[in-house]
Parts: sequence; C-alpha cells; structure tokens
Amino acid sequence: MAEERTARRAPALAYPAGPAEARGLDPASYRDPEIFARERARIFSREWLCIGRVEDVARPGDYASVDIAGEPLVMVRDRDGALHVHSRVCRHRSMILVEGSGNAGNFVCPYHAWTYALDGRLVGAPEMDRSPGFARERCRLPGPRVEIWLGFVFVNFDPEASPLAPRLAPLSGALANWSLADMVTVRSFEFELGWNWKVMCENFIEAYHHLGAHRLSLEPFLPTRLVQVEESKGPYAIVHMGHAKPVGHVPEEARAPTALPDIAALTAGQRGRSSLVHVFPCHLISPEADRMEYYTVFPLAPDRLRVRKHFCVPRAALAEPRTDAAIGELAARHLAYRIEDVAINDGVMKGSGSRYAARGHLSHLERPLWDFRRWWDERMAD
Ligand code: FES
Ligand SMILES: [Fe+2]
Repeated sequence: MAEERTARRAPALAYPAGPAEARGLDPASYRDPEIFARERARIFSREWLCIGRVEDVARPGDYASVDIAGEPLVMVRDRDGALHVHSRVCRHRSMILVEGSGNAGNFVCPYHAWTYALDGRLVGAPEMDRSPGFARERCRLPGPRVEIWLGFVFVNFDPEASPLAPRLAPLSGALANWSLADMVTVRSFEFELGWNWKVMCENFIEAYHHLGAHRLSLEPFLPTRLVQVEESKGPYAIVHMGHAKPVGHVPEEARAPTALPDIAALTAGQRGRSSLVHVFPCHLISPEADRMEYYTVFPLAPDRLRVRKHFCVPRAALAEPRTDAAIGELAARHLAYRIEDVAINDGVMKGSGSRYAARGHLSHLERPLWDFRRWWDERMAD
C-alpha cells in the first residue's frame, strides 16, 4: 500500500525485562494534593521547564510575564540584547512588579515606585536613604537558571541542576533538519483546563487513541497502524505518525494540511510523517514538514493547568504571502480536533476519581508513557 512506502511499520519495542509490568501511573496521582505538592518539590523545583521562546521577547525592552510552579517570573530582553528571567516579586514588600507583556525601559513597582533596570538591578528606591543597612547597589531581582535550547527558553529553580542541552543531545540531532532555533512563533492560544498536567502530556504523546477518540478526524490521515515509537535515549520520548494516502471519501477535517512549503533540509522520510516529542516533565513539541507546533504547560493544581499552544514557522516563511492564512486554517483545524481530546481528558480526570480506577496495562504504542512513568517514579521516590 502507498502509505506503507512512506512510513514502514517498525517492530514493536519490547518493554525492559524485569518484575515491573508495563502499566500506567496510579490514577490517584492525577488528583492527590500531597502528590502534587511532592511534584512541586521533586520535579518542578529541580527540572528544566520551558516558559516560551526567545522571539517572545525579540527587541530590547520586550518582556513577557509568566507564572510557573507558583513562581511569578518575567522574561525580558535588556538594552544590550541579553535575555533574562527574573522573579517579578518586588524586593521591598513583595508586590508583583509587572503583569502581562509589552515593552518597557525599566520596571517601576506600582506600590512605592522602586525601579529596576531590565537586567534586574535596583536603580531607584525613593526615600530609602535613611534606612540603616539598606544598600540599593546590593539589591537586584533574583531568578532561576536559564538555558536556551533550540530557541526554547527553559528555567530551572535548582542552582545545582546539570545543564539541559547535554541531556538532550540525541534529540537535538534528531531535530537538526528543522533548524528550530531559526523558527518564529506566529500564533498562540491559551486554555485553562481541569486536568492534571500528566493527563495532558500522556494524551499528547501517544497516537494509539487516534483509532478511538479521533477515528473520523485524525485516523484517516494519521492512522494508528502507521505509528512508530522511537527508543528513548534520554529524558524524552519521540513518536512518529506516518501519513496515510487517503482513500475514498475523506472528511474535510481529516485532510492533510496543505499549509506552507516543506522545510528544504528534511529527508523524504521526515516529510512523510508528523512527529510528537515529549521532553520530560512537560515540554511538548510537534515537528511537521513545514512548521513546528509546541505547548507550554503550566500546572496550577492537581486538577488544573494552563496550556499555551503555539504555531511556529521558519523565519523565511514570514515573507510568504500565504503564511498567515495557512496558519489560520491550521489553527482552526487544530481547535476542532482538540475538542475530541478535551472530552477524553475530561473523562479520564473524572474516571481517575473512581474507587475502581486502576493502573492499566499499556500498549506497545504507549511506550512513552511507560518511559515517563519510570522517570517520574525515580524523582518521586524517597
Ligand atoms: S513593594 Fe515594591 S516598591 Fe514597595
Ligand atoms: Fe488526541
């Protein structure tokens, strides 16, 4: 069959030998406040978390507020072009310094007008010259560690954490042909949802559910039978979804996107499929033949999260007159099939509260969930 030529089925990956069966997470881990508090301490306080991309603050003075792991932060480009991520909690009496995004020459606290330079230095503190022990020069906004990986901005609240890029070296190689660092974000959408953050990530990274939840929408174009799971070489998972050649009547929502020119550096194999990447704990990327989509995931509570969906294109595509309309069409289509995932994840959250909910056996196509579960177990263990 035609589609088998573009994406041959890979042999199913075997689960590691040992006493552990390949089962999913305990459903209680989607709802338990104590587990969420432990995740905040063990995972969100220690692991690299994506908060956006460098082009979100492209020009000197650009800033973007972001809240992650309970921390109000601001990402900002200073006058010299350096990118910083600061706490946006005032050093005086903890007022939130700035909200939203925009362009500023400095940050002036709305409470007593202490003023911070874009690089975080306190440069103004009215009426503080009679406060013993206060030295403006020694005061600056603190912040997490920052690392840029392929244009994504990651933060880590653990000063001892090892750098991110070496952990992701094989993944960087696998994504090299997309030149992600040269892409720019052209559309973003934000949603607040009643799900645990792991439910979102697990739903994202497996395409086993195309034959169920997306039977009429995605399955004709991205059929479960053409899904391949790559063996993981680090704290991430990669899944490829071969593109099927449509046969017979194909509903409008299931047609292959015809958006932008393919990225020239991609191999024929890379053009003939869509892929999913989950960088643990919660960075989700979809490299496509002509673009990249990604989610930023902000866990708010055991059963609540904020997600932002972003569409990114090669910088050169900005000059193409049809880019805007094509991305608009893609975004509309995406929002339509997301409704199917919303219903599924809502159902899983409800089901996980049942006394009868259990750790189920996983399919070989859910290998990424198994890899993620072991990664999670290691960090959550005593
Ligand atoms: S709390 Fe910011 S200046 Fe007082
Ligand atoms: Fe889905």
